[in-house]
Amino acid sequence: MDGNGRWAAKRGLPRSFGHKKGAETVKEITRAAGEAGIRFLTLYAFSTENWQRSPEEVSTLMGLLRQYLKTDLQELRKNNVRIRFIGERDMLDADIVAAMEKLEAETAVNDGLTLCIALSYGSRQEIVNAAKKAAALVQKGDMSVEDIDVKLFSDMLYTKDIPDPDLLIRTSGEQRLSNYLLWQLAYTEFYFTPTFWPDFNKNELTDIINDFKTRERRYGKV
Ligand code: FPP
Repeated sequence: MDGNGRWAAKRGLPRSFGHKKGAETVKEITRAAGEAGIRFLTLYAFSTENWQRSPEEVSTLMGLLRQYLKTDLQELRKNNVRIRFIGERDMLDADIVAAMEKLEAETAVNDGLTLCIALSYGSRQEIVNAAKKAAALVQKGDMSVEDIDVKLFSDMLYTKDIPDPDLLIRTSGEQRLSNYLLWQLAYTEFYFTPTFWPDFNKNELTDIINDFKTRERRYGKV
């Protein structure tokens, strides 16, 4: 969800306005994804690197998140959306973690769209954590080195039980992954749009899904 800051700067507004408008887009796109029959939507809301932004900006983003957890996500809960969070929870304030855990528990039985929010997320750290978990099991004698395979390793990531993405969309014209789902994106189709996230909408999502449908996915085969 890139481009909130540039969207605001283009209008002579503080960056926080871009994030606020971006939070509105989150609602529109989540609704549209559910209507389009998408089963899993993962949003990169805050990276581990984003902690290095100014205290004011971090505080704006955490404020929006608190608000979102209290109001908007409660709405999603009623709409049969299952909510999951991925990322380093111990970096987040205790009240935010408590609200996240409550929502995950309350929506666990929902069987509509799974909305996965990457928060304080960094893919390299996720992979290192998984390697540590596997090593600890081997060290304890609960598993042998030979037991470690792709499936077992995948199950040690935050995304356990969430299928690898079919399509990655990055807004704002940047063409890089920025430490996002590095393992999970191995065979994902990429789509980069110049649209800033606050301007992204349902029509553009529909166009991108239609483009995706024309792609030939070979997974390394001929
Ligand atoms: C990237 O744009 C966006 C973020 C770091 C934050 C994304 C957050 C939201 C869309 C709102 C809150 C989210 C939820 C789930 C309620 P940028 O700030 O890097 O923009 P720039 O590259 O133009 O400066």
